[in-house]
Amino acid sequence: MSDQKYEDEPMLSWDDFNADEKVMPRAQPPAPPVAEKAPAPAAPAPAAAVAAPARAGHAERAVAPAPAARPAAPKQPWTQPSGSPLERARAAVENMDVREGEAEITGKSTRVRVDDKRMINCRADLNQLVPFKYDWAWQKYLDGCANHWMPQEVNMSADIAMWKTPEGLSDDERRIVKRSLGFFSTADSLVANNLVLATYRLITNPECRQYILRQSFEEAIHTHAYQYCIESLGMDEGEIFNMYHEIPAVAKKAQWGIQYTREISDPQFTTGTVETDKQLLQNLIAFYCVLEGIFFYCGFTQILSMGRRNKMTGVAEQFQYILRDESMHVNFGVDMINQIKLENPHLWDAEMQDKATQMILEGTELEIQYARDTMPRGVLGMNAAMMEEYLQFIANRRLAQLGLKEQFPGAQNPFPWMSEVMDLRKEKNFFETRVTEYQTGGALTWE
Ligand SMILES: [Fe+2]
Ligand SMILES: [Fe+2]
Repeated sequence: MSDQKYEDEPMLSWDDFNADEKVMPRAQPPAPPVAEKAPAPAAPAPAAAVAAPARAGHAERAVAPAPAARPAAPKQPWTQPSGSPLERARAAVENMDVREGEAEITGKSTRVRVDDKRMINCRADLNQLVPFKYDWAWQKYLDGCANHWMPQEVNMSADIAMWKTPEGLSDDERRIVKRSLGFFSTADSLVANNLVLATYRLITNPECRQYILRQSFEEAIHTHAYQYCIESLGMDEGEIFNMYHEIPAVAKKAQWGIQYTREISDPQFTTGTVETDKQLLQNLIAFYCVLEGIFFYCGFTQILSMGRRNKMTGVAEQFQYILRDESMHVNFGVDMINQIKLENPHLWDAEMQDKATQMILEGTELEIQYARDTMPRGVLGMNAAMMEEYLQFIANRRLAQLGLKEQFPGAQNPFPWMSEVMDLRKEKNFFETRVTEYQTGGALTWE
C-alpha cells in the first residue's frame, strides 16, 4: 500500500546528490566539451571546462553561460622541450617563484596562539595543529585510532551457512538483514561525502579536522563492512545497493539527509554570514544528530538483537564495531555543535532552536516509519511499538545533548542491553556517553 503510494512521488536517485551534473546537459545546448572529447595526451584543458561539471548544488550556477560560452583559447601544438627531464626539473626548481608561497607563510601564518583558534570562520593558520584548543577533538582522534578494526577480521562462515539454509532464518529476519544492509551501505557513503565535500572545508580548526579525517576513513571502513557482508552472503548487489531509492522507508531517510548537504557541498559555498553559518549548523545537526544519531539506531538494534540470539553473528559483530564508531561520531558532532554555539551565541536564537528541535523530530518520525516497515509484526523479541519508544528515548537524548527541551517526557529505553553490547574488549562503553566525559580544558560549559 505505502509502496504503491510512493510510486507517485519522485524517486530519489544517487544523481540527485550532484543534481547539476544531470541538469546541465538538458539546460544548455551541448557545450563544447573540451574536457570530455579532447584526446588524452592533449594540453591541459581550460580550467572552466574542468571546473564546471564538478560543481554541485546550484542549478542556477550550472546554467550560467559565462564560462561555457567563452571561446576556447587556440591550442598550441605540443612540442618537445629542449633538455632532458632532469635538466628541466632542476631548472624549474631553480626558477621557482616563491612569492605566492611566502605570502601564505609569512602573511597569515604567524605562530598560532590558542586564543586565535575558532571552530568556524577562523583566520589563523590551519596547517598548525598545535597548540591544542579543543582537547576533546584530539582525544577522540586518539580514541578512534585505538579502536581501529577491519571487516576481514570478522569470521563470516556461520553467517554464510545460516543465510544459505532455507530454514536458517524466518522471512521477517531476512527482511531485516536485507533492509539494514540496503540502508547502511549507501547511508555511510552519504555521510562520508558530506564530511569530505562540506564539513572538512568549513570547520576551520586543525584538531577537529584531524578527527574528521579519521572519521572519514572509518566511514569508508563501514561501507567496506557492508559490502563485505553483502558479498559474503552472495546477495543480489543491485537489489541491496538500490534500496535507497527503491524502498520508500529507506529512500526517505536518504533524501532527508541529502537536502542538508546539497547546497553546502558546493565548492562555492562559504560561511561568514549569519545565514550561511546557520546552514552549516543545520548540516551538522542533520548528519551527526539525525543521520548518525537516530537513523542508524533501528537497524543497529535489530541486527544486534539477532546476534544476541546467535543468528548472523558475523554481521552482528561488524555492526557492533560500527556502532561503537558511530556513537563516537555522534559525540564528536555534538561537541562541535555546542562549541560553535558557545563561540557564536547569536546563531543559536529561538528560530534556530526551533528548527533544530523540528529536525530531530522529523528524523525520529522517519526512523519510526522505518521500524514499522521493517517489522510488520514482532520479531527477535521486539516490535515496532517498542522501537518507537526506544527512538523517542534516543530523540530525548539528542535534544538534551544540544541543550534543547526533551519532547517525549518519560520515554524509557526498552533495550538496555544496547549499551552493554557495545562495551567491547574491556574498553570504554561509548554508548550514550555524556559530552562532559571528554572535557579536559574547561572549554565546554553548556551542561
Ligand atoms: Fe559510519
Ligand atoms: Fe559515522
